Amino acid sequence: MKRIGILTSGGDCQGLNSTIRAVAKTLYQNYGNDGVQIIGIIDGYRGLIYNETRMMKPDDFSGILTRGGTILGTSRQPFKLMRVIDENSVDKVAEMKKNYKKLELDCLVVLGGNGTQKTANLLREEGLNVVSLPKTIDNDLWGTDKTFGFQSAVDIATNVIDCIHTTATSHGRVFIVEVMGHKVGWLTLYAGIAGGADVILIPEIPYDINSVINTIKKRTESGKKFSILAVAEGAISKELAAMPKKKRKAAMAEIAYPSISYKIAKEIQDATGQETRVTVPGHFQRGGSPDAYDRVLSTRFGIAAAELIINGDYGKMVALVNNKVVAVPLEEIAGKLKAVPADHEIVAAARKMGICFGDEK
Ligand code: F6P
Repeated sequence: MKRIGILTSGGDCQGLNSTIRAVAKTLYQNYGNDGVQIIGIIDGYRGLIYNETRMMKPDDFSGILTRGGTILGTSRQPFKLMRVIDENSVDKVAEMKKNYKKLELDCLVVLGGNGTQKTANLLREEGLNVVSLPKTIDNDLWGTDKTFGFQSAVDIATNVIDCIHTTATSHGRVFIVEVMGHKVGWLTLYAGIAGGADVILIPEIPYDINSVINTIKKRTESGKKFSILAVAEGAISKELAAMPKKKRKAAMAEIAYPSISYKIAKEIQDATGQETRVTVPGHFQRGGSPDAYDRVLSTRFGIAAAELIINGDYGKMVALVNNKVVAVPLEEIAGKLKAVPADHEIVAAARKMGICFGDEK
């Protein structure tokens, strides 16, 4: 009897349950319902550290294709703290190894983003059999063209921008839609283009507020009464970007706004006199059902992960490269951030139709 542990770690997103389902169904198909015991590890790596688990049955994986969130629960266990012995003297890595053995696992399947992949690689280095899957709305995982969750979040953020368009045009206002994405701008770039934003600000292209203001003024001069900005939560001005890291952190902490979007909004309103509003869809972008694209992608990923287990091909993350599902060694991808190249083909295309990225002269 094979014993496979499975956990979801880090921020949730759409497609976690559809991925779990695909892994499980493929394993049951291959080994038979009595040939494999799937062990659900509760709340991510936390469950492995404290041995909180749930023996899963085939029925647990039915009816979850469309369900948002994760049936296993999740938590953030920062990688930088993994080797730190905490106040309760818990050696997290040692405990995870001990529980892996206690549970008599043949393999641990982890679904997660950047931090999760780093810990997966650490466990691989410690001798555990690990297979991982790329999850995040940020699409910032190295080694894969797409992560599951990304497209569903793009759809939601696009819908927000669509809705904002109608109220912005009615009132002749400037609107900022602040889009998630942590330190990268993939979500903002895609949603901004899909939603017809006039300005797209992403962390990879530091902005000059004057460039943004000029764009809005020009729109007003040409008779356009409203403007829509898609601003990544991690967007950064040129001045801040030019500062050394420590100074920048301090300067950013000093910005007395809930987020960068409110600072930008004030600067625009002061310079143009136009009413400016901010909308922050926040965690809404991570909620609800996966869209059709993510259901298909996560199913493909889940099947591929199960096949790695069946073949005993461990230490890998499944990935999408040129629309093919492949497996990449964890050591090659762990800890590498996939940011938007400033000269990315989609950025270049958007510039051709006049979308402002805030770095125009
Ligand atoms: O990584 C996914 C993400 O939603 C980011 O886009 C965002 O910066 C972060 O998680 C928010 O984290 P939390 O859910 O811990 O507030």
